[in-house]
Amino acid sequence: MRIYQTENYQQMSKKAANIIAAQIISNPESILGLATGSTPIGTYKNLVKKYQDGDIDFKGITSINLDEYVGLSKDDDQSYRYFMNDNLFNHVNIDINNTYVPDGTQKDAELECKKYDEIIKKSGGIDLQLLGIGQNSHIGFNEPDSVFTFGTHCVDLTENTINANARFFDDINKVPKKAYSMGIGNIFSAKKILLVASGENKAQAVYDSFFSAITPNVPASILQLHSDVILVADKDALKIVNDKGLI
Ligand code: F6R
Repeated sequence: MRIYQTENYQQMSKKAANIIAAQIISNPESILGLATGSTPIGTYKNLVKKYQDGDIDFKGITSINLDEYVGLSKDDDQSYRYFMNDNLFNHVNIDINNTYVPDGTQKDAELECKKYDEIIKKSGGIDLQLLGIGQNSHIGFNEPDSVFTFGTHCVDLTENTINANARFFDDINKVPKKAYSMGIGNIFSAKKILLVASGENKAQAVYDSFFSAITPNVPASILQLHSDVILVADKDALKIVNDKGLI
């Protein structure tokens, strides 16, 4: 694993965008696995800027997002499809037909999850998967569990995650309780993984995931077994790792 420690969120975002831009430049037909949440917003801003400056081209890019809340439509401003359109897709020349986010309005969970796994398979596999990390070390919406799940599945969100995500909603009761999410297996199958983390509230998750035992109770810990992982984290997110002298 390669670790880039940055001074702050801005530098983390710049570094992550540079890595994604390098992927796009080296393979303009890349399949990008994308994430939502607050952490990658700065990364997307930098990518939009690079596109506007003529440094990168999204024409041949396909994107496959990690997850979506069950029950939210693409027009709901809390849906992850809306987030992606708003933060990236509407500002670059990606073909919207080549952007995939699970359909939160699909009531048949089994069908939607199967369809999504097919999309990933048909794409030929994700070249670079961008990830954020939850305070409980979830990736996608793979919550701490007794097993690592493989494919796309419907998740019951934990109280920890619902509370963490409540900041985006005007009422905690409006936070959906379920999500469709790629499984750990889907994520692990990506050729390259780029995980971004910022802030001291992620320090425990970063330490547990990358410097402690591998267990499904710490979902991101599986990434220790992946051969091509880049962690881009600011110094607050690496606080415990630094305090323990591990890097
Ligand atoms: C988002 C996702 C989640 C987030 C995680 C961290 O698509 O899959 O795993 O990456 O919840 O969210 P933030 O960045 O808001 O702290």
